[in-house]
Amino acid sequence: MPQLVTHRSAGVIAREQIRSVLDRAAPKVERAVQSAVLATADRRDSAEQARQRGEPYAREVVHRCAEGEVLLAWWWAGACCAAHDHGGAQGSVVVLRGHFQERSFAFDGGRLHRIAQRELGVGECIAVAPDAIHAMSAREDGITLHVYTASTRHMRVYDTTSRTTWLIGEDGGAWLPASTSQRGQPWTNRHERR
Ligand SMILES: [Fe+2]
Repeated sequence: MPQLVTHRSAGVIAREQIRSVLDRAAPKVERAVQSAVLATADRRDSAEQARQRGEPYAREVVHRCAEGEVLLAWWWAGACCAAHDHGGAQGSVVVLRGHFQERSFAFDGGRLHRIAQRELGVGECIAVAPDAIHAMSAREDGITLHVYTASTRHMRVYDTTSRTTWLIGEDGGAWLPASTSQRGQPWTNRHERR
């Protein structure tokens, strides 16, 4: 029973923290969302530049504070990010434009298995749990709004082909680093890294 109370308390705390992050970020988020939804050619250019770099989306940090962060992502049609966690952060992803597929994963021994899949349209939301591993793909050009508490600067990205785990800093996103100067870590089972 104490575990149940702890779990419920954690959920309440997360909601309060997310609300606090949004309250602090509100004016900036409102402007950024308006700009995103009005949707502009230059934003499509940003997504195209991301495509040319081999990245699934262009990202913009709208707000970052000690409690969390708010991001916007512009996706190109057909883009697919790598399986990743969120560095212990939790939060929500809302589709502002386009149509997306989300795949959820879990480690089973040394293998990363897909355990669920869902389709998301405008206004639909993904709840991101602290240890969740997922990947998203864009069916068409799209925009997503991400709110996390705390930040995702220590997220892990999983290369399921080479079985390598990458630790991504605050300026990176959910894709495999292109630079050969970076070195991935040995394949990490999330149960082993606790
Ligand atoms: Fe994610």
